[in-house]
Parts: sequence; structure tokens; C-alpha cells
Amino acid sequence: MKLSLKFFDKVDMKRAGLKNVYNSPVQKEYSQLAEKYDDKWSFYVKATLQETLNRIEVYSGQRLLDIGCGTGVFLETLEKKNPEIILAGVDPTQEMLDIAGRRLSKNVHLERSWAEKLPFEAETFDIIISCNTLHYIREPFVALKEAMRILKPAGRLVITDWCNDYISCRICDLFLRIFNEAHFKTYRKTECYNLLCSSGFNDIKIDRYRINWLWGMMTATACKKSI
Ligand SMILES: C[S@@+](CC[C@H](N)C(=O)[O-])C[C@H]1O[C@@H](n2cnc3c(N)ncnc32)[C@H](O)[C@@H]1O
Repeated sequence: MKLSLKFFDKVDMKRAGLKNVYNSPVQKEYSQLAEKYDDKWSFYVKATLQETLNRIEVYSGQRLLDIGCGTGVFLETLEKKNPEIILAGVDPTQEMLDIAGRRLSKNVHLERSWAEKLPFEAETFDIIISCNTLHYIREPFVALKEAMRILKPAGRLVITDWCNDYISCRICDLFLRIFNEAHFKTYRKTECYNLLCSSGFNDIKIDRYRINWLWGMMTATACKKSI
């Protein structure tokens, strides 16, 4: 796969406003969870990835990036479905990426990186997805601007995450904000819409749904305006 990559280092992270990059709460949490993640969260991951898949159309030869790809389950599903899609994934937690690397072929480009500073040139991808990651992102506006930058004109962004319109998610959000340093914030549908809109995305559509009694989710799809 031919992608132009920029060197990504600690200094870049400081510039992006994220301190203590190699020892952040997110990395601590996911480096410890990595080996257990797939088993522990199998129902949740399967359900949310399917909801995301249902909302994307991606064809042979197109380039897709998964932001916060974790252990690579989504990329694996796509690779099996159509090996001619050009796939890439980024995640700041090396231990999660190591597992993704074991389950994916060498054709899938994996890179340690944060959503707020993506190591790709402008207009690289046809589609960007991100599942179950938005609530960890410290600077969502910066991250969305980055996604916008590396999407091709008319490229699509698909984000799945918890939805704070559901009372169960609001309670989890509140609890995690107090007791879990890795967690940052979950959003209501209108907040998510406003974030996407103020980052310059068009054609925004957000579906809310439950995957069980606890998890109320939303999937947002949005488009980068073609020139
Ligand atoms: C709940 S896991 C989701 C993994 C995968 N997308 C899935 O649905 O199974 C959240 C992932 O987001 C990553 N993450 C956290 N903050 C991030 C950020 N600012 N940019 C990119 N990824 C981030 C974590 O390292 C972790 O692997």
C-alpha cells in the first residue's frame, strides 16, 4: 500500500496538546486490557461493528482508515469480505495494534497514532470509520478536522459511539468521568451533529439505537464536500 507517512513522535503529540503521550491513561488502560479485550467485549464489539458496517459502502481499490482500530476486528471483517479494499488503522496503544497485526495480513497498514494528529497526507482516504473511540478523544474538534484533512473530496466519515440521549449511557458517562481517567466524554446526538457541522462536514445523518438494555448507541455518517 502506498501511503505517505509523516514521522510521528512525542514532540508532535505535545504540539497537538496531548501531554505524556507514552503514558497516557488511555494507553495504560488499553495496554492492560489488550489481551482480554476481544473476549471481554465480544458481544459489544460484534454488535457495534455490524451497525457500522451496515452504514458504509466501500468498493475495491478504495482506501479506508479505521481510527482507534484497537485489535483490528473491523478491519479483519472488511479484509475477508473484500481483500481489494486498501485498509489502514491507527491506534495509540501498541498492545492493541500488536493484536491487530497478528490477525490482519501484511497488506493492512497499521500505525501507532492519535486521532488528533494523523500521520497521512491530505486527501488520502475515501472513507474513514471510527468505532467506540470518540468518547476517549480529548480534542474531538481537532480530530474531526484531521479526518476532514485526510479525506478525499466527497469522502465519507462514519462514527459509532455511545449516545448520551440514553439515560443508561449518561449514568455510565458520569461514573466513568469520576472513576476512570481514560474516559473523556460521551455526546448527545445534537452535540455530535454540532461537532461534525462545525468541523465542516456535510450531509450529516445520525441514527440512534440500542444494542441491548444497557448500551444506547449512535452512528453518524457525514461527507466531505466535493470541490
Ligand atoms: C473501546 S476500544 C475500540 C477499539 C475498536 N475500534 C473496536 O470497536 O473494537 C477504544 C480504542 O480507542 C483507542 N483510542 C483512545 N484514544 C484515542 C485517540 N485519541 N485517538 C485514536 N485512538 C484512540 C484506544 O487505544 C482503544 O484501542
